Amino acid sequence: MDLIIRQGDLVLPGGKVQRGDVGIRDGVIAAIAPQLSESARREIDATGQLVFPGFIDPHTHMGIPILDTFSIDDFESGSRAAAAGGVTTILDFTVQRPGQSLEEALDERLALARGRCHVDFNIHVNITDRPERWLSQIEALCRRGFTSFKVFSTYRQAGMMIRWPQFRQVLAAIRDAGGLLMLHAEDNDLIERDTEAHLKAGRLDPIYHARSRTPEAEARAIQRAAEIAGELEAELYIVHLSSAAGLEAGLRARRQGVRIYLETCPQYLLLDESRYLQANGHWYITTPPLRSPADREALWAALARGDIDTVGTDHCPFTRAQKEAGGRQFHRTPNGLPGVEWLFPLLYTYGVAEGKLSLQRLVSVLAENSAGLFGLDHRKGRLAPGMDADLVIWDPSARGHIDGARQHGRADWSPYQDFPLAGRVRWTLVRGHTLVADGHFVGQEVHGSLIPARSRTQTASG
Ligand code: URP
Ligand code: ZN
Ligand code: ZN
Repeated sequence: MDLIIRQGDLVLPGGKVQRGDVGIRDGVIAAIAPQLSESARREIDATGQLVFPGFIDPHTHMGIPILDTFSIDDFESGSRAAAAGGVTTILDFTVQRPGQSLEEALDERLALARGRCHVDFNIHVNITDRPERWLSQIEALCRRGFTSFKVFSTYRQAGMMIRWPQFRQVLAAIRDAGGLLMLHAEDNDLIERDTEAHLKAGRLDPIYHARSRTPEAEARAIQRAAEIAGELEAELYIVHLSSAAGLEAGLRARRQGVRIYLETCPQYLLLDESRYLQANGHWYITTPPLRSPADREALWAALARGDIDTVGTDHCPFTRAQKEAGGRQFHRTPNGLPGVEWLFPLLYTYGVAEGKLSLQRLVSVLAENSAGLFGLDHRKGRLAPGMDADLVIWDPSARGHIDGARQHGRADWSPYQDFPLAGRVRWTLVRGHTLVADGHFVGQEVHGSLIPARSRTQTASG
């Protein structure tokens, strides 16, 4: 063995915890047993620590254009933050510029990630410019290992919105190619109506971001999209679900037989719209907006029940200076929050340690389910022999808190400032490479690699 992790409390598929050793050879988990008799070139004593499969953040945006600026992390800094928090695979998105084909946009994005991303990655393909023109590229992209696509039912003024007839065409093409369509679900008509009313009346404070993009807008878009998915018998993935109304629309569709998957984010589980009333409320502008405490609790309950499939961060950080440049006006402030470093520590602390989430649910929503939905489950998502040696060793006895001034990405603040944490990431390994050692990021060389996804038809046939 190259490395043996000794006597950790291993969080196995299904959430079962078993004390034992993990042996790693050539970047793969070679053996798991109560006690391995082999020797290894290196050993880590994990006594008293939980050993998890590496976590997957299915939703990040490194260095994307928003308003007149760019989210501040690039693949290097953002993946450093990911590794520090136990995320070993990120799924980011292309940025399709007007006139650019899906393939060109993807190749441009891959060029930014390759050789810079510390953790493993794949890229979702955004379809924002004249979708009908690029339908013929979808199948080839799936064959190349890019099987997930995303569209927006809003952001018309930014030139990114898809209309429902186009949505239908795109969804059918992705279904036929064995891919998965992701939707940013907000009803643009409602949003434009409410936004214009507030702007006209001079209501520009951050809280009007939430008043302009309502739960009703989210629910209406989910309902419409799910109707189409039902008619086409196609699968559909809703990103960053934020509200009880949106949740109910998704669950209603599921009860009617639609294969709809739901993703939420830590900000909708842990923060609420009262943040917009703080002096720095404009820093919290993100889309969809933060919601009410009741929405937050509905999402927790759904997560615990298994009605929400994944948790991603929508990591899209801006510095305080970038946020300030919007003059504290909701429509001029770049939208997005940092998150990837705290995905797992927050879910462990406020889910598992508080008794809201079982370990089984935690590994499902942070690893297994994303691996399955995005065609990576032949290598990622489970602590089992044959899988990539992506591991996180977590010390549940450590105590600390989040400090925006001491993070691994480029954001100089955190929406979770001073949140206590019930543990600490001690080690993060990606395919056997050590990125975090004894609590410190040590990834001098870049080891992250593109992991081609298997299409849904390949996955189904094993
Ligand atoms: O405000 C956010 N979340 N920015 C990133 C883009 C998006 O809509 O996910
Ligand atoms: Zn979005
Ligand atoms: Zn996003």
